[in-house]
Amino acid sequence: MQVTFKIWRQEGPDYKGAIRDYEVDGLTGDMSFLEALDHLNELLVLKNEKVIAYEYDCREGICGQCGVFINGRAHGPHDNMTTCQLHMRSFKDGDTIVVEPWRASSFPVIKDLIVDRSAFDRIIEQGAYITAKTGTAPEANAIPIPKEVSDNAMDAAACIGCGACVATCKNSSAALFTSAKINHLNQLPQGKAEEHKRVQEMTYQMEIEGFGSCTFTGACEVECPEEISILNIAEMNARNAKAKLFG
Ligand code: FES
Repeated sequence: MQVTFKIWRQEGPDYKGAIRDYEVDGLTGDMSFLEALDHLNELLVLKNEKVIAYEYDCREGICGQCGVFINGRAHGPHDNMTTCQLHMRSFKDGDTIVVEPWRASSFPVIKDLIVDRSAFDRIIEQGAYITAKTGTAPEANAIPIPKEVSDNAMDAAACIGCGACVATCKNSSAALFTSAKINHLNQLPQGKAEEHKRVQEMTYQMEIEGFGSCTFTGACEVECPEEISILNIAEMNARNAKAKLFG
């Protein structure tokens, strides 16, 4: 299988970037997308050229490190899938594949396809914790939690923080990410102690990081590898209003 990669190359945050073309042969449909990039980098090493910088860790759809734009879509042509889960069989022999970093002013490019997503870490720092007594763990049934509540909390907790929601949103909004992180704790009894503080401080941090406002286009939900629902955003907004009244 042979493809032409058109890949964003940028030496560093203060350098001008540009798309460069690479014709790559010797690929197979069973290769993951990251393995295809590995193969390209091996060819570049043999030619004594600088390798392409891209990020990954687990290669199993868990860590959220690997996000790139592929042919104009976050994580490539399929809904709800990470870049590392994408295989080359999703493309045809002879295809041209355009690969770019996430595009959002709150995610500045560090190098080539790697962006700085530390804005997410700063949002997390504002409230993704609970107050809990130290000592031995309480008996599991001591705090009954309705199944619907625990299911919703677990669904929100599935967010891997990859940033596809921001990258695909026309407003570069981080509302899906932030709402998932707020709601997975705010719904549970263990998160109640900081309920109002959490939603106010995390949404405030989201705003000062420069992310745009949510206009409910729903694009984030389509591209989210973990299928986080935009209902989380509605709930975050409702909880924020409640916190302002009663917080
Ligand atoms: S490398 Fe971990 S989610 Fe893709």
